[in-house]
Amino acid sequence: MTDVFGNLQYVRVDREQRVGLVQLHRPEALNALNGDLMQELVLVLETLDKDPTLGCLVLSGGEKAFAAGADIKQMAQASAVEMLRQDDLAVWDRIRLIKKPIIAAVNGYALGGGCEVAMMCDLIIAGENAKFGQPEINIGVIPGAGGTQRLTRAVGKAKAMELILTGRPFKAAEALEMGLINKVVADDQVLTEAKAMAHTIAEKPAIAVQLAKKTILKAFETTLEEGLDYERKLFYLSFATEDQKEGMQAFQEKRQPTWKHT
Ligand code: CAA
Repeated sequence: MTDVFGNLQYVRVDREQRVGLVQLHRPEALNALNGDLMQELVLVLETLDKDPTLGCLVLSGGEKAFAAGADIKQMAQASAVEMLRQDDLAVWDRIRLIKKPIIAAVNGYALGGGCEVAMMCDLIIAGENAKFGQPEINIGVIPGAGGTQRLTRAVGKAKAMELILTGRPFKAAEALEMGLINKVVADDQVLTEAKAMAHTIAEKPAIAVQLAKKTILKAFETTLEEGLDYERKLFYLSFATEDQKEGMQAFQEKRQPTWKHT
């Protein structure tokens, strides 16, 4: 793993059995998401996504911050034309194309782009002192990496309006209550819990897991009729896998299946 990712500056990579572990590491700036960090993060995620020996990914930050947002210092003087030409956020957008489930393990601040990256993940486990928020309004802009879209889809119009228009931060308990995250645990248990969930998912038949993720995400982009049609096609497609044969055979033989992830 270190051979492939030898030159990383802001992202650390590791693995535990079938789980890929990715950590944002720019502690001096509370993991502020500058262009280089995001390039590295996306490269790492895309590389791990292609590794057939991994079934699930965990994305974490540091103790004090998952990420405190896009790097304000890097973009403060930019013109709209420069922002448009550079289009850094097109790199961020590639995270949603990762096929394997990603679990965000959030400690500390997940603000602005940090909250948006967490929302690009498929599941979120947070420490009790984690602090989420879309504070962009306080620096004269709006969320730019999906905040207005994903927060609204997750918590509904009323809450999204309140949180984005006031920019007020909210703690993990409120995030859980709103349905934004999956679980709140003690701060020092976040990574343990995220890994435990990741191992559970990674042990499931990998192709079915990826088809399920794809189909759930489709629910946000289609009519019910189109979504049901899409689901049915991917359900039928799952019968092309060896794991479907094994899973249904094992059920009939009253034994545990042995997955090949093919
Ligand atoms: N960009 C650049 N640098 C940042 C940063 C950011 N988003 N957040 C923190 N830092 C830097 C600070 O400038 C500081 O650096 P120096 O030591 O060189 O001064 C260092 O990280 C530590 O931060 P603080 O001293 O501010 O730490 P604190 O504990 O007093 O406050 C905080 C923590 C409340 C998170 C505060 O840092 C903060 O408000 N950060 C900005 C949060 C924010 O507005 N995020 C949204 C960014 S815009 C965005 O994300 C757009 C988008 O949708 C894509």
